[in-house]
Formats: sequence, C-alpha cells, structure tokens
Amino acid sequence: MKYLLHGIVIFFALIFAVMVLMVGVVAAVNKPKGDKEQVLPGKGDRPKKAIIIYQPALTKITARIAQELAAGLNAGGYEVILNHPGAHLSTNLSGYELVVFGSPTYAGQLTKALTNYMQQVCPQLAAATDQTPRIVLFATGGLDQTEEFDRLAGLLTGLNVVKKVKFTSKGQNAYDLGLELAQE
Ligand SMILES: Cc1cc2nc3c(=O)[nH]c(=O)nc-3n(C[C@H](O)[C@H](O)[C@H](O)COP(=O)(O)O)c2cc1C
Repeated sequence: MKYLLHGIVIFFALIFAVMVLMVGVVAAVNKPKGDKEQVLPGKGDRPKKAIIIYQPALTKITARIAQELAAGLNAGGYEVILNHPGAHLSTNLSGYELVVFGSPTYAGQLTKALTNYMQQVCPQLAAATDQTPRIVLFATGGLDQTEEFDRLAGLLTGLNVVKKVKFTSKGQNAYDLGLELAQE
C-alpha cells in the first residue's frame, strides 16, 4: 500500500513537472523579441521591397532560415527588411512586393507572437484595393506534417499566398527559395 501511494505521488509530480515545462516553453517561444530591424539594401534606384517578419524561439533555427531567405532575395535584387512581430512593427504592409511570415512550430502550432500580429495585418492586406503583395508563409520544425498552416486558412483568405513552406532538416534550401521568389 505504501509503495502504491509513493507511485501515485511520483506519477502526479511528473505530470505537474511536464505541465510546468510546457507552460515555460509556451511563454519562452512567444516572448516578444523586440524591434531588431535589419535592412539589406537592394540593387538599382528603385529596388523591389520585401519584408520578412519572423519569430525566433528557443534555438536559432527560424532565425537562420529567415536570414538565408533574406540573402537569397537580396541576391536577386530585392531590398529586404527583417524584423520580429510586435507592437513596434507597423501593421501597414502596403508598399512591399513580398511579405514573408515565419515561425517555428511548437505542439502543432505556429507561435502566437506571429499569428497575433498576422491577425492585425492580414485583414488589411486582404481589403487593399491597390496592388497586394505576394505572401509567403514558412514554418520550421522537426516533422513533415503541416497542420499548422491549415489552422491559418481563415486568416489567409483573400491574400495572394504564393508559397507555404515548412523547413525541416531535410527540407528545401531557404537561400534558393529566396532567389526563386526574387526571379518570379
Ligand atoms: C516542446 C517542443 C515541441 C515541438 N513541437 C513540434 C511540432 O509540433 N511540429 C514540428 O514540426 N516541430 C516541433 N518541434 C521542433 C521545433 O519546431 C523546431 O526545433 C524548430 O525549428 C525550432 O525553431 P527555433 O530554433 O526558432 O525555436 C518541437 C520542439 C519542441 C522542443
């Protein structure tokens, strides 16, 4: 009986520890990363403009993919702005030919830090009557499944979404994708 009670206590202690860990992970991945604007100047007098808005989370994988994508676009002539989602960032994205949203996937979802920002800007982009930008959505993760994109279907309605791509360790090269997007 004593062993059974110990077993039950250990079981619930483990469940509690996992829950605390998950809450910590969720808080960490959604922590605002602040205004860290980077500008890669384009070629010529009036280069096409792209903005990459990405939420880096626990490690550096999403940040690395965003930088590679930016380098590819820049090599293709684009002026590229990189920054993190948050209150510091304008919600008016008119003036860009290409808008890229990027986030890691945690527990089958993109980060709230990014999707909250998208909730503010996507309806405006969809309602715009002048030239609307091409939209690219990328996720990073360990799994090939892409249900995280399906969850955003409503948000992306009416937008000119040209690519939804998930970068896994064996996935597409981000630099090449940037170059390809610049040439389209
Ligand atoms: C707790 C946890 C949950 C994760 N859940 C998923 C998931 O549901 N799907 C997936 O593809 N990858 C998942 N991953 C892998 C991360 O998405 C992947 O490592 C990501 O590229 C990390 O990006 P970051 O370095 O910007 O944090 C998970 C990783 C951790 C640690």
